[in-house]
Amino acid sequence: MKESEIRNIYIKKINELKKHNKLYFEDSSPLISDKDYDKIKKDILNLEKKFSYLKDASSPSISLGFTPSKNFIKSKHRVKMLSLSNAFDIEDLENFERKIYNYLNKKIKLEYSVEPKIDGISASLTYKNGSLIMGTSRGDGTTGEVITENLKTIKDIPQKITSKDFPKDIDIRGEVFIKRSEFDKLKNDFANPRNAASGSLRQKNPNETKKIPLNFVAYTYGYFESDKIRKQSDFLNFLQRWGFKTNEHNKILNSIDDLRNFHKKFEKERFDLEYDVDGLVYKINSLELQKRLGFTANSPRWAIAHKFSADSAFSKIIDINIQVGRTGALTPVARIKPVNIGGVVVSNATLHNEDEIIRKDIRISDTVKIERAGDVIPHVILVDLKKRDKKSKKFNFPLTCPSCGSETIKEFNNITKKYDAVRRCANEGYQCEKIAIEKIKHFISKEALNIDGLGKKVVEKFWDLKLIRFPQDIFNLDYNQISKLEGWGDLSVSNLKFSIDQSKKVSLDKFLYSIGIRHIGIENAKLLAEYTKSISNFLSFIKNKKINEFLNIDGIGDTQINSLKKFFDNKSNYKIIEKLSSILNISDLKLNKSGKLLNNTFMFTGKLSNMSRAEAKSLIEENSGSVVSSVNKKLKYLIIGEKPTNRKVEQAKELGIKILSEKEWVNLLN
Ligand code: IVH
Repeated sequence: MKESEIRNIYIKKINELKKHNKLYFEDSSPLISDKDYDKIKKDILNLEKKFSYLKDASSPSISLGFTPSKNFIKSKHRVKMLSLSNAFDIEDLENFERKIYNYLNKKIKLEYSVEPKIDGISASLTYKNGSLIMGTSRGDGTTGEVITENLKTIKDIPQKITSKDFPKDIDIRGEVFIKRSEFDKLKNDFANPRNAASGSLRQKNPNETKKIPLNFVAYTYGYFESDKIRKQSDFLNFLQRWGFKTNEHNKILNSIDDLRNFHKKFEKERFDLEYDVDGLVYKINSLELQKRLGFTANSPRWAIAHKFSADSAFSKIIDINIQVGRTGALTPVARIKPVNIGGVVVSNATLHNEDEIIRKDIRISDTVKIERAGDVIPHVILVDLKKRDKKSKKFNFPLTCPSCGSETIKEFNNITKKYDAVRRCANEGYQCEKIAIEKIKHFISKEALNIDGLGKKVVEKFWDLKLIRFPQDIFNLDYNQISKLEGWGDLSVSNLKFSIDQSKKVSLDKFLYSIGIRHIGIENAKLLAEYTKSISNFLSFIKNKKINEFLNIDGIGDTQINSLKKFFDNKSNYKIIEKLSSILNISDLKLNKSGKLLNNTFMFTGKLSNMSRAEAKSLIEENSGSVVSSVNKKLKYLIIGEKPTNRKVEQAKELGIKILSEKEWVNLLN
């Protein structure tokens, strides 16, 4: 048979498989028996074995056909599902504790609830009057997918709870995971146990979920009102009483030293466990302290994940490529000879930046030690100089942008008085192709517009096909053309259209974050949104050259101001935002408008005795008040702590601003 004929047979089989995958996994209405389905798969694999030139992305040798469904209904979490910040060493732990002391403004004895961090995926279960009424995935932390029926197939998840003291309305949260022994059976289908759990849980058809035995341990709550439970460890005990599984290794410890010793011991013993654990979670045990400490943008101040040390291996650098990121940063990436590190095949390792290459004198063809820890990108630790080829040459870092050819720069940092370690493309904007693509990827990402079905790979494809050049092009796609593309059926096109339409409604803070201005992350975008209130206001600040006014915002400093100025100096950036604001429905930030400090502005001078500034600020904001950083007519109260700045007090007196002592202020709150 001719090669073209063989290819034809192969493609036919692949298309057949795709059709049945869709019927089975997405539509939940298979047309053929499992046996016939397996036969198609086997035929494809046999053909590939015989004719090595046959290859297709949908082949069972590459993909499982097990693509999770995109069809789940979304639900907003009543309480956000946040992640944890990581600690890798004792210094990180000491910093964690020090920040807590600073925030509370006091050194008190802390008690920790210590819990193994199982490497699975988190889920939230809503119980009303003892019945499981909804189960969701984490999603982007704000909104999850409703996967109730799939979760109900897990035997560790109780569907009815009759204990008298079980709360009437509560979200129970925990980790869904698969045991190692079960994963071993699925090794060929998934890269790691976590992917297996996630893939299984997000099947359209709960019967698919049932096929893979999943487990669930509970460890926290989302929505919950109680004044009875005082400690995390007590809550864990209650969970057990109510019928949930909790981790058998949970314990209470009292000092950083104890944490460190337990970590050391557990790190070795973890391999005896039936499931993968990638670290320990330490939580301040007192729920009252947890409440006081609260959250930063992404994670609680009262908890941290102490990761286990990384696995490592030696391999050889085949090449060094330079990637251009969203902010123009040139990141060198080593392409290495594929090597298995702790169960995962690694073929790329980051070299961070130009300075790192110079410092470690990393060269192409060097043998290097590579480390990989959990979900962190693998990186090069050291060069084995004994194995270096005598003829090897130093790596020359490019001085122009590999994407657009513009000059590159290293910025001077006025605070550290040093040049940045990172070299950047000077072309901050859509004129540089790679930067533009990365900006669009950021625009659609989970924390930004969160457009389901338009992943990073799709953005790249649409870019290559010239379907998109700017973020606004996403809202003007040629769906007709897309439906003709390989791999795009009617269903996926209509799904894409649906999620793009849905994403048009966006809050001002998310929008400001999504534009991707350097140094304006989620938290700063929120501050800008709170200050400017609406997109038209924001744009008039920019148009009227009043960016400096943002310095009034507590938390916005010179770095952010300079970055905003640079961004808007580029006229095309302003035009893009104007264009987007005409397409999107950008809603004002929903603020807590009912607190007793509404319309009141505060400023602090001097040290407070019972709490830190940060805690005082969140207390004010929780009650709908705001904190400003300069004395002017808009200020209503100046709160005076120990050793205040006299100039501020005088200015306030001149302007007739009310002056409060710390005690008077606390009384005002109560
Ligand atoms: S507490 C706001 N406790 O780790 C508190 N999380 O990076 C966050 N995880 O998404 C959750 N074991 O999937 C908590 N005992 C434990 C945990 C745990 C595993 C996972 C969870 C979460 C991630 C945080």
